[in-house]
Amino acid sequence: MWVLPELALTGYEFFDTTELRRYVEDVSGGSSVAWLLALAAERGAVMVMGLAESAGDRVYNTAVVVGPEGLVGKYRKLHLFDREKALFHPGDDGLQTFDIRGVKIGIMICFDWIFPEVARTLALRGAQILCHPSNLVLPYCQKAMFARSVENGVFTITANRVGVEERVGRRFVFSGNSQILNPRGESLAQAGSETIEAKVVDIEPEAALNKEITSANHLFRDRRPTFYGLE
Ligand code: ACM
Repeated sequence: MWVLPELALTGYEFFDTTELRRYVEDVSGGSSVAWLLALAAERGAVMVMGLAESAGDRVYNTAVVVGPEGLVGKYRKLHLFDREKALFHPGDDGLQTFDIRGVKIGIMICFDWIFPEVARTLALRGAQILCHPSNLVLPYCQKAMFARSVENGVFTITANRVGVEERVGRRFVFSGNSQILNPRGESLAQAGSETIEAKVVDIEPEAALNKEITSANHLFRDRRPTFYGLE
């Protein structure tokens, strides 16, 4: 499985919706999805990649899951960051898991990390691996993903942009440091903050099925939702 960043092929910052519209695509017929489908078939791999999805007159910040047999599914970012709110429509088709050869994966996009409910919901729905295409500008997400891994007992894969974009009178420095963490929050792979890198690791996804912390503690069964009550 390959995990690529959020808005992987377009860049992150757009002047306005008119410019953004030049780069959007319908996930079932777009050119970068076609490219990804060919790559997935050639490599016998599953790809997770962020793109700007057009659906009618709406544009979503979306990630697609593509396998050798075709499009597996997509996730539309629920929590838009800052100026994204002026460009994209917030996700409206929820949090799903996708079955990849018997392993369940979930997708969250960049700023979704700051809402622990996203990772929790995906994990409660059985996700063993959280794929996290990102264009991170805040410095602390990678540390927070340690908690997302540990509190949910899942693998997390944060694939983040590097470099600088200077547009619309704003300057974004993307923080890189892509990482893969296991369900105990241990680092399996760590990229640098400035160079483009790909990291490859072997994992045993079954490790994410064990939610026991001690013989008396279970990550999910010990939850006390009756007492969490607030919306
Ligand atoms: C972000 O959500 N791209 C910061």
